[in-house]
Amino acid sequence: RSVAFIGSECHPFVKTGGLGDVMYALPRELVKQNCDVRVILPRYACIPQKYQDKMVYRGEFYMDLGETGRSYYVGIMEYIWDGVVYDFIDNQEFFSAGNPYVGLVEDIPKYCFFSKAALAALNYMNWIPDIIHCHDWQAALVPVFQKTLFKDSPVGHAKSVLTIHNLRFQGIYNIPTIRYWTGLPAEVFNMGALQQAWRDANMLKGGLAYADRITTVSNTYAWEIQTPEYGEKLEDHLRYHSYKLRGIVNGIDYGMWNPATDPALAVNYDITNVLERKPQNKLALQKELGLVEDEGKLVVGLISRLTNQKGLDLVNAIVPQIMDGNTQVVVLGTGDKEYEDTFRYYENAYKGMFSACIQYDESRAHRIYAGADVLLVPSRFEPCGLTQLNAMHYGTLPIVRETGGLKDTVEPYNVFNGGGNGFTFDRYDAGLLLDAINRAKTEYFTSRYHWDEVVQRDMAKDVSWTNSARQYKDLYLELTPW
Ligand code: ADP
Ligand code: GLC
Repeated sequence: RSVAFIGSECHPFVKTGGLGDVMYALPRELVKQNCDVRVILPRYACIPQKYQDKMVYRGEFYMDLGETGRSYYVGIMEYIWDGVVYDFIDNQEFFSAGNPYVGLVEDIPKYCFFSKAALAALNYMNWIPDIIHCHDWQAALVPVFQKTLFKDSPVGHAKSVLTIHNLRFQGIYNIPTIRYWTGLPAEVFNMGALQQAWRDANMLKGGLAYADRITTVSNTYAWEIQTPEYGEKLEDHLRYHSYKLRGIVNGIDYGMWNPATDPALAVNYDITNVLERKPQNKLALQKELGLVEDEGKLVVGLISRLTNQKGLDLVNAIVPQIMDGNTQVVVLGTGDKEYEDTFRYYENAYKGMFSACIQYDESRAHRIYAGADVLLVPSRFEPCGLTQLNAMHYGTLPIVRETGGLKDTVEPYNVFNGGGNGFTFDRYDAGLLLDAINRAKTEYFTSRYHWDEVVQRDMAKDVSWTNSARQYKDLYLELTPW
């Protein structure tokens, strides 16, 4: 089967979160499973020069856009890597910012342009896939364009899959603006498709209506988003379309995440020597971060975008109660200033025991996964979550809230028979998080034999893409049975 992936970020070119990981790993796995995959991305100016240098000019054309009355340049720059073809859509008017996302005023026109240009580029290259697989609101207009402006052109006939990685972001703006930038016909601006309230258009909502299939990144999230608590006001719309909605849990790329070969680590390890070597990674991490160097301390990691989604208010509320002299905390993340400042405050208050790395640092993230004993993921909502998967694969026990993909991937530790993968709590409540951390401490400090078994079980757990990619492939085959 041939598949075009269309989305706004992809590791290692540009990544702000898990979407970037999925756009990298899933196509690679699909290629292994004999799919023919092209990934279509914006050619942002912020893509590192070493990747820009690898791109080869593939062609260019001009395209009308909406009611702008202008014709826009669309360049196609190509890079083929490990069997995956990456096509970057070039237009410096839209993609020259230092970040992929700037603010809605810029981003709405940018992704209207991008979605249309991606389809036009497929027609131009005369590469018509069986399936067009779009990701999040930035590419959600693709199925809408396919079934309207492109319906009589070759790409109009490809089947579409739209994956929701995060329902919180939907691409909402007033109807006249979206009309101006898309030229979509009046019929799509109705309450069953793009329209929301009386004068807004919602790009994701439109995509959900027009896509042939909808997926999201875990089973629990697929169910949660049909309820008012998690539905971000689209619960009714999603329930209406639930016949075509399913959850497929994410995996991680075993090439990129492998403690046995990871070049970022102080010491490489695998399941046979993790118990000796993980402490060495812990000591190296403590040294790197200026923490008290002691392998006997419990090191609690947190690697996250610092936003309201991630449950950081729960963490902030209980930091004083977890700092008992035997516990260290390492935070790596950037985001909302209130969280950044609170973590900086704690670093200062608990010198040598608390480290706040307010930065985005891929290689440091690897060293924290390897050096920490537990990783906190107390999210308010979590479509899938990848950090708990990385953690388990590196022998670090996750402490998670039972929501979305966290619930589907972390089986709670069972004190009676030693089973499970990590520590969990259900309601969004700081006391329950504290309780889960205390249960982890008790096991770590008093029952190391059981702890070590969980470490090894987590490392052996299959969190690869193999199974999940097969489920996507099955979905593609269902859509194109011929
Ligand atoms: P989300 O997509 O909601 O941010 P995920 O758990 O799916 O959450 O993915 C987060 C990804 O980003 C993981 O690969 C994680 O390691 C990485 N990450 C998050 N914050 C940082 C950071 N400050 N430095 C390096 N990597 C980070
Ligand atoms: C989103 C979600 C995260 C998920 C990622 C990749 O950013 O917040 O839970 O793992 O997408 O699907």
